[in-house]
Amino acid sequence: MSDVILSIDQGTTSSRTLVVSADGRILHAAQEEFPQIYPADGWVEHDPEAIWATVERTLRACHDWCEAAGHEPVAIGITNQRETTLVWDRETGKCLYNAIVWQDRRTAERCRALAAAIPVAQLQAKTGLLHDPYFSATKIAWILDTVDGARTRAEAGELCFGTVESFLIWRLTGGAVHATDATNASRTNLYNIRDNLWDEELLALFGVPDSGLPDVRDCVADYGRWNGIPIRGVAGDQQAAAIGQLCFAPGDIKSTYGTGCFVILNTGDQCLTSDNKLLSTIAYRIDGQTAYALEGSIFIAGAGVQWLRDEMKLVDHAAETQAICEGLNSNQGVYLVPAFTGLGAPYWEPDVRGALFGLTRNTGRDAVVRATVESVVYQTHDLFAAMAKDGAHPKSLRVDGGMVANDWMVGHLSDVLNLPVERPKVLETTAMGAAYLAMLGAGMVANLDDLSALWQRDRLFEPDMAEKTRKSLLDGWADCVRRLLA
Ligand code: G3P
Repeated sequence: MSDVILSIDQGTTSSRTLVVSADGRILHAAQEEFPQIYPADGWVEHDPEAIWATVERTLRACHDWCEAAGHEPVAIGITNQRETTLVWDRETGKCLYNAIVWQDRRTAERCRALAAAIPVAQLQAKTGLLHDPYFSATKIAWILDTVDGARTRAEAGELCFGTVESFLIWRLTGGAVHATDATNASRTNLYNIRDNLWDEELLALFGVPDSGLPDVRDCVADYGRWNGIPIRGVAGDQQAAAIGQLCFAPGDIKSTYGTGCFVILNTGDQCLTSDNKLLSTIAYRIDGQTAYALEGSIFIAGAGVQWLRDEMKLVDHAAETQAICEGLNSNQGVYLVPAFTGLGAPYWEPDVRGALFGLTRNTGRDAVVRATVESVVYQTHDLFAAMAKDGAHPKSLRVDGGMVANDWMVGHLSDVLNLPVERPKVLETTAMGAAYLAMLGAGMVANLDDLSALWQRDRLFEPDMAEKTRKSLLDGWADCVRRLLA
């Protein structure tokens, strides 16, 4: 019998569980997709029972596999799509409304009204965030104000609120534990990331009663048990990816290309405030010590390739995009600004929508595919430009997520950022980050330094683009964004 970790990764489009060995190898995996619900323009929801069922099934499948293969699961780690909000009945565990997903824009108007009530600088000083429907606070309030009787019931303490990890912890522990971790709390706009507490002034302002909020714990802590196995590690997926990429030193930076793209720069014990619309957030909290990060959040990355496949039917598989991109010797002046659910950092424009620019009579499928892949690269550059204005000049970047299997995309990223880009052997850094936290919690490793032997590089991409070409591509992109926002 060897000791293993069960690592749950509840993402935007699928749930998966991995079995991870003590030396950081993935022994087994189970994954299930679930439907996206789009009730109106800019609205995105998930069925909470679909989230739960896919997590429970993949977890059970991995648990059964361990039994058959003679492995002993000693701890569970959880990582999750962040900000996505649920409100459920404390007695029955049933949700009052679908999960409102992080991409959802329905509270944009409310956010504009709140900006008049609390200046953004004041909000940023407390939560590190901005006024945007991306974050959980206005989503919780929307459910309480929309579902009949919900606000009265919340005030009577009959309801629980939370992001996905807290819902899963509640369900996994049979309602025994209502808890979140500091990274997920830091995405709500209700949590004071400097003082590490739910902020009473913000709760009142956003209209969220404190009776329904989860207890906030370290990323390595006791979160109860499922099937007798302790849940010992929890972090939001982007922070977990940074942990999986071993970004533990100030200045370490990673970028994850999943549904969206999220760049996280470790700033150590310094909570820096961006003057350029990046977010300050908690990278992790271990043994009561908080490490902070600057974050750039882009809403559409892999989701753009999904759009090419599912809506535009331009490719059958995401993997085809590499050969298509390589097959053209330029982007032919075609740019896609994929503002399908508005633009995130550094623009924060919830109401703008996507557009294709530069179409001619000769524009074909390949140019549109390449423009979609390129758009992710240019958006990443926008984040790095904002970071540079904030005084951060990383020397290299670690990338992960499904999209970076595309060599052309990573090469183009390195060229456009003019920076070496490192791709690890294991691209499942998010689930690995949650597994590492659970390993720490289970005492399988003593500290973060012990994890460093577990990261291995697959490939280093070095920049190789003439400055003139780089500038002209970036000028073309900037011009399209300007025209869209005008
Ligand atoms: O903040 C949203 C983020 O956590 C979603 O991540 O992996 O679904 O792109 P992902």
